[in-house]
Amino acid sequence: MLKIRNLSHVYPNGYQALKSVDFSLKQGEVVAIIGRSGAGKSTLLRCINGLERAASGTLEVDGVDLINAGGAEIRALQSRIGFIWQEYNLIERISVMNNVLAGRLGRNQSQATWAFHFTKEDREIAVEALERVNMLHRAHFRADRLSGGEKQRVGIARAIAQQPSLILADEPVASLDPELAEQVMADLVRVARETGVATLINIHDVELATQFCDRIVGIAQGTVVYDGPADGLTDEVLNRTYRFDRAPKVYGRTILREAARAATHMDEEAERLLRQAKRRVETNV
Ligand SMILES: Nc1ncnc2c1ncn2[C@@H]1O[C@H](COP(=O)(O)OP(=O)(O)OP(=O)(O)O)[C@@H](O)[C@H]1O
Ligand SMILES: [Mg+2]
Repeated sequence: MLKIRNLSHVYPNGYQALKSVDFSLKQGEVVAIIGRSGAGKSTLLRCINGLERAASGTLEVDGVDLINAGGAEIRALQSRIGFIWQEYNLIERISVMNNVLAGRLGRNQSQATWAFHFTKEDREIAVEALERVNMLHRAHFRADRLSGGEKQRVGIARAIAQQPSLILADEPVASLDPELAEQVMADLVRVARETGVATLINIHDVELATQFCDRIVGIAQGTVVYDGPADGLTDEVLNRTYRFDRAPKVYGRTILREAARAATHMDEEAERLLRQAKRRVETNV
């Protein structure tokens, strides 16, 4: 389903956000990607979704070689990838139902679809997707009237309505309070498992990641530093993922101690110079 080997990505300003990423995803797997802010998690999802063109390595998504694919091939692939965003990305002023139907747009390229005239089949798919996340009773609500948790459930329904080969979720519960975050994460993982869609979830919260996902990928500084079962996340692995710069901090403390000592000497030196200057002033007077 997804094969990544030695993948690197350099942004136009020259910053290398991904160094040498390796991992694979099988049909139906639900995997959490954890890592510190700036580790490269979003960059990785954007490369997998073809929003960023990875610089080198192997990146095969649902049979498409994304390193060499053309624009049309990438757009066709994007219609088979459901993307779930932290800030939901719903169209606020239209109904929940139309938001979910928007997930059908890429799948069905007819003129009628672009005018928001959907087929009976499209509507049935949207109804089923809303049912899966227990939001059918809100089908005719305007999206901007929903709570955050409800919005993200609609985001999940929209992704599912795409009948995707792969779901990518970038911090899907980071804007929700802890209780809602847990419920929405549970919904996302349940729906992914029920539909058998391979799913990658970027998530800061290690507890939620291990609670719901069997396999965890840890990323630090653009590289995979852990890929294994949730119960293998030992302190050592978490240090590697989150506190890889602890050594420089120790070094930093050493420097601070030296600086403090130097400052003391400087104080002594300053006092000596002051005494000297005072003496000179007194003598001149
Ligand atoms: N368009 C860009 N141009 C240059 N550098 C970028 C760009 N987008 C992201 N970066 C840098 O790439 C690195 C990885 O960013 P990325 O957004 O992938 O991190 P992340 O792991 O998703 O972090 P967070 O947990 O905060 O969302 C960061 O240092 C970021 O500043
Ligand atoms: Mg991110």
